[in-house]
Amino acid sequence: MGQRTFTIIKPDSVGGNHIGEILTMIEKAGFRIIALKMTYLSRSDAEKFYYVHKGRPFFRNLYLFMTSGPIVAAVLEKEGAQDAVAEFRELIGKTNPELAAEGTIRKKFAASKTRNAIHASDSDENAAWEAAFFFPDKEIIDTKYAL
Ligand code: CMP
Repeated sequence: MGQRTFTIIKPDSVGGNHIGEILTMIEKAGFRIIALKMTYLSRSDAEKFYYVHKGRPFFRNLYLFMTSGPIVAAVLEKEGAQDAVAEFRELIGKTNPELAAEGTIRKKFAASKTRNAIHASDSDENAAWEAAFFFPDKEIIDTKYAL
């Protein structure tokens, strides 16, 4: 298991002016931001990024929402983590905000299964693929030594 994961702060959170608060929750949970970018997904980007969900009943809502406004993509590192992917998924909470635990990012900011505030990778392999989708190697930075 690795020490890195990948996240997207979704258009509902960006539009709601919650970027800073979400990044603060992420940092306070012990994750270090090692790449960060505000951008947009085109429809074709969104279809590629979420290709594993193609054919699912929620796919149309997913790409319409993810292309509806700006997003913030980030690569995160948690030093000493046994499993950064799993620990970050704990922090964000369940996909359905009604089931998200108290203290999670989705409990605080998500409105529905589609407008659910934030995305997190679900495996080390997907985290690496998703990070590379948004960031070339030179934009993933060892910030610990960037003093
Ligand atoms: P995310 O972590 O971005 O990864 C896939 C997304 O698909 C997920 O968050 C949800 O926004 C969406 N999703 C997954 N399951 C459902 C569902 N049952 N209904 C609606 N949207 C879903």
